[in-house]
Amino acid sequence: MGTQMTERFSAAGATLVKLYGRPERESAEFRERAARVRDIGIRTAMTQTLFITALTLVSALALALVYGLGGFLALRGSLDAGAVVALALLITRLYAPLTSLAGARVEVMSALVSFERVFEVLDLKPLVAERPDAREVPAGPVAVEFDAVDFGYPAADKVSLASLEEVAVLDGAAGAQVLHGVSFRAEPGRMVALVGSSGAGKSTIAQLIPRLYDADGGTVRLGGVDVRDLSAASVRATLGMVTQDGHLFHESVRENLLLARPGASDADLWDALRKARLDDLMAALPEGLDTVVGERGYRLSGGERQRLTIARLLLAEPRVVVLDEATAHLDSTSEAAVQEALAEALAGRTAVVIAHRLSTVRAADQILVVEEGRIVERGTHPELLAAGGRYEELYRTQFAEEGEQCGGGAELVAQEA
Ligand SMILES: Nc1ncnc2c1ncn2[C@@H]1O[C@H](COP(=O)(O)OP(=O)(O)O)[C@@H](O)[C@H]1O
Ligand SMILES: [Mg+2]
Repeated sequence: MGTQMTERFSAAGATLVKLYGRPERESAEFRERAARVRDIGIRTAMTQTLFITALTLVSALALALVYGLGGFLALRGSLDAGAVVALALLITRLYAPLTSLAGARVEVMSALVSFERVFEVLDLKPLVAERPDAREVPAGPVAVEFDAVDFGYPAADKVSLASLEEVAVLDGAAGAQVLHGVSFRAEPGRMVALVGSSGAGKSTIAQLIPRLYDADGGTVRLGGVDVRDLSAASVRATLGMVTQDGHLFHESVRENLLLARPGASDADLWDALRKARLDDLMAALPEGLDTVVGERGYRLSGGERQRLTIARLLLAEPRVVVLDEATAHLDSTSEAAVQEALAEALAGRTAVVIAHRLSTVRAADQILVVEEGRIVERGTHPELLAAGGRYEELYRTQFAEEGEQCGGGAELVAQEA
């Protein structure tokens, strides 16, 4: 019920429900779930009450028996009246703790169920575990290398617990292979752009670099060292990643930025904001850095949010940058601002960028065309255009319009001709 409420009452979820969800269906579903929670509550309460009622009844009957039989015997003179009273008192003394014990039994039983689930979570083997003798990423410029990497997303039962999943079907079947023998090398300080149609496996490649998953075959190397031999902390310190959704916590701008570098001073924060071309906007906000952003806070536009995530990246000063460039339609001013912010973020760093903009692609030292989990073409923009393969096709469908808008298309087509 909690999950459903969190999902449906979040800003994005509520909007979706308003747009598509038939309110009656939503409330019927919620009613059904709430009814199940209510039923469980009632069952627990009933069990507890039953135990206690039974015990109270037994104790009341025993007391009646002592008074009845004892009184009868006392009248006959075979028992002291004092002894009867003492017996009755003993019985009450005995039953009071027994009654509380019955209550405790119910509590212990529910605690045991909780324990079971807690241990289930504790026993779940992490998908990606650090070696005990993990190394640091070597100092200096860092190259990113993929060596014949095969990868398929792990089956649901490896990443989640059956008892916590209601919706996903946990049949244990592993997902299909997503990457097939991907090899490339991003030289230190150079930029590699990944292009390809949606679902080709670009984001998957990006996620393997910070070792969010382990490759099934082949090796991913950072600075010449297999990521499986590196410590997680060292990888985090080396690498900065901006994901497509650019998530911000429902906290102040300051808190969101400090995530990247907890000890940063306000001057550092403003410096990062300036580089991300966000300083004017932030300065104009009445509460400045203390403005609460995120889901229920101040709503940033798509471009502003992206620039804030770039500011966060700049603050972390990573040696390697992995960017999943957002496809969100930005207006031309914020597009230009994001572009400037990106140039700042990428300068002098090893970068792997999933590119959706022609300007990024053209700036790349190497372009990899990803198709169905394989790298089908590689080279620079002019080389690939001249080759007239898949890239050229992509260029025509994805980038050409944009190129014409910024006046570069005609020139490039001429160059190609
Ligand atoms: N978390 C996931 N679990 C299982 N399969 C996934 C997951 N994410 C992506 N996939 C699958 O992997 C393939 C590649 O996806 P992705 O790397 O996101 O593509 P791209 O970023 O190039 O659009 C797709 O077929 C997609 O269905
Ligand atoms: Mg993607």
